[in-house]
Amino acid sequence: MEAEARARTDVRLPDDVAATVLSPKSYADDSVIYPTLKWVRANAPLAQAVVPGFDPVWIVSKHADMIAVERNAKLFHSGDENPILNDQANDAFIRSLNNGTIRSLSSLTFMDPPEHGVYRNLTMNWFMPGRIAKLSDQIREIARASVENLMQMDGECDFVKDFALLYPLRVVMTLIGVPPEDEPRMLKLTQEFFGTHDPEEQRAEIVTDPLVAAKMWKAAIDDLYDYFRALSEARRIEPRDDVISLIANARINGEYVPDAEANGYYVALATAGHDTTSSTSAGGMLGMIRHPGQFELLKGNLDLAGAFVEEAVRWSCPVKHFMRSATADTELRGVKIAKGDRLFLSYPSANRDEDVFDRADDFVIDRKPNRQIAFGYGPHMCLGQHLARLEIKILFEELMPRLKSVELAGDPKWVQTNFVGGLKSLPIRFKKA
Ligand code: HEM
Repeated sequence: MEAEARARTDVRLPDDVAATVLSPKSYADDSVIYPTLKWVRANAPLAQAVVPGFDPVWIVSKHADMIAVERNAKLFHSGDENPILNDQANDAFIRSLNNGTIRSLSSLTFMDPPEHGVYRNLTMNWFMPGRIAKLSDQIREIARASVENLMQMDGECDFVKDFALLYPLRVVMTLIGVPPEDEPRMLKLTQEFFGTHDPEEQRAEIVTDPLVAAKMWKAAIDDLYDYFRALSEARRIEPRDDVISLIANARINGEYVPDAEANGYYVALATAGHDTTSSTSAGGMLGMIRHPGQFELLKGNLDLAGAFVEEAVRWSCPVKHFMRSATADTELRGVKIAKGDRLFLSYPSANRDEDVFDRADDFVIDRKPNRQIAFGYGPHMCLGQHLARLEIKILFEELMPRLKSVELAGDPKWVQTNFVGGLKSLPIRFKKA
């Protein structure tokens, strides 16, 4: 069925609402995206967005529906279509570069059963809580150095650029095995990889032309591939206790992991692991600033640090969507979904679903229970979730005792993205404890 023919008239979002949910710009303004998603949940919880230039997509806005879709990875595939929403011109361009397939990156997010399980199993144990906990001391050392650095600043800084951005980059690069001198290159490449819609995050030559954006994305991936190919060869010769050594030396049916899949893994780990985490840390700080009493609550009860992380990731929700497509005709929330239809999983919407969260828009550290779904659900649920949790928890355990108070020193700014990102600037004034 052609994309346009999929458009349904009976369950269709108003055009302005559909455009707002899909537009990267909406996510740079809390006062736009959250009220829109609230309207969707109340009035059209499972409806199609039909936006010129895009395939029609079902907006999955409710927590329960997200779980129903995510847990059924056979019925709802990740890799038949692009798991990240792009316009049709972009997707056609990607297919033209990849012999007709949409798989521009052989990473877990593009894989379906049974392939997905085979590749996920390679690193699953490495990312389990018990294994990750062993890295605590190493992570705490990096956190302490970051906090110390912040304390050298004169009571005023940009919490994102001067603090939150660099710490998770350093942690994830250390753990996957990228040397410190290559970190700035990795940061730049990740921002290009995720932030191609934000004018401030793009290469100089980029303009608003979607084909140029697609080329730019491909260029970022090619750069990352070149980098990791060399590093992986080095780790085969001299393995270390890092993830790159694990993947470079792993075997499937007796053979080394093919280059494309190994590179897909490295790129996914190098890019998925830090923007998300820094956005959550900065979002958590903004949450405390905007909700009186929460800063003091955490400061006085550091054993709430784990609960703080859950609320920070719910409230800031750095991953805005992933896509799925139906492999058979089915029904969800009483609505018929046809084989091949595409679904846009709205994590920020599910994370503020009033059926699951009281005072859903408020930042409440000691929320109980907190069934946030920011890491996804089911077989594709975030591989790095335990690492992300530990990193943010340790950072705030180190930071809070050093701070007496924090206030805004300017307007926060968010990156323009409908995929991954969060605050790009959070000017704060702080008093040291
Ligand atoms: C606060 C930080 C993070 C958030 C909010 C986050 C969120 C997500 C989400 C929503 C997904 C898709 C889940 C789904 O489809 O059900 C995902 C997948 C993934 N994440 Fe994270 N993530 C974070 C940190 C990390 C870190 C630190 C790493 C690794 C170092 C990582 C690696 C991955 C990988 C490899 C996948 C693909 C898993 C698969 O498809 O099987 N993430 N993440």
